Amino acid sequence: MKILLTGGAGYIGSHTAVELSSMGYDVVIADNFSNSNPIVLEKLEKITGKCFPLYKIDVADKAALRRVFEENEIEAVIHFAGYKAVGESVKVPLSYYRSNIDTTLSLIEIMEEFGCKNLVFSSSATVYGKRASLPYSEEMETGPCTNPYGWTKLFIEQIITDYAKANPDFSAVILRYFNPVGAHKSGLIGEDPNGIPNNLVPYISRVAVGNLPYLNVFGNDYPTADGTGVRDYIHVTDLAKGHVAAIDFAAKNSGTEIFNLGTGNGISVLEMVKAYEKACGHEIPYRIAPRREGDIAFCFANAKKAFEILGWKTEFSVDEMCRDSWNWQSKNPDGYK
Ligand code: UFG
Repeated sequence: MKILLTGGAGYIGSHTAVELSSMGYDVVIADNFSNSNPIVLEKLEKITGKCFPLYKIDVADKAALRRVFEENEIEAVIHFAGYKAVGESVKVPLSYYRSNIDTTLSLIEIMEEFGCKNLVFSSSATVYGKRASLPYSEEMETGPCTNPYGWTKLFIEQIITDYAKANPDFSAVILRYFNPVGAHKSGLIGEDPNGIPNNLVPYISRVAVGNLPYLNVFGNDYPTADGTGVRDYIHVTDLAKGHVAAIDFAAKNSGTEIFNLGTGNGISVLEMVKAYEKACGHEIPYRIAPRREGDIAFCFANAKKAFEILGWKTEFSVDEMCRDSWNWQSKNPDGYK
């Protein structure tokens, strides 16, 4: 079965390419490298022994995307491509709405042209907004989102759901990611954000490798055990395996199904700092800073549905997430550059 990964050279896309390939799927990658690096393709070849067909295109460009479908018999698509920086989305909302939504519409229209009926979409726990009741379960109400990036995820979920309803033989799986961290065990691929990282673990790893002086801990006055924010961190390889399970499910079903991909465990910022110190073998300097706007105290998944229906569950511990993140960062102190 041939699967197109839009944004397949990115952090989650590249790890998913590895897992799909190891399960015998053929992978085709479409990426415009706006937030990824072409060298990833060489790394993927080293890990898998396979050279994946690559299309350097903007997925919103229908003519370019059509060529991918003409040249390959694509049976399913995993749609990763999209802008993903929360803070940036607040500053340039139109470009987030234009890009993320256009890309999805073009993709589904081309899938329809070619009779491709299986879609897996990268959504996010951010669609739960600031819900008070935890853990977050798929049947809970969504929104309001706290930023335009989150709204694009929620709008796209709705577009996909409506399309699947109107086309009963279409099969869509929406995956709501919690906080993906870590890297492939080879240390060849990992997370390489542009500029100064916004997310916790990439920031800690830059401090650990000596590229940044200290971590700012955004708030220690939350109603959590140690006062710092609690999140559900998930190893990117576990997350990637969730996509393999979702593809298997999509191929055998129709309609739309939504799954959380998380561990179900909440870890605080300071607990993560401790775990990372263990992994890298030295102290991570940090300072307590004011709360970051838009942050919530707790966010973690009810991960039951994915286990019961997809038979998927996470395997990696927080220590293993930090070990693999450090393995990648210490071998690649400047990322892919
Ligand atoms: N944090 C710090 N210092 C930093 C960065 C983060 O203390 O330098 C704290 C945050 O305040 C928060 C925790 O670390 O308590 C996690 O923050 P991240 O930025 O790593 O992740 P978020 O949970 O804020 O956001 C992530 C993704 C979003 C996604 C969301 C879903 O970045 O894309 O999870 O819940 F929408």
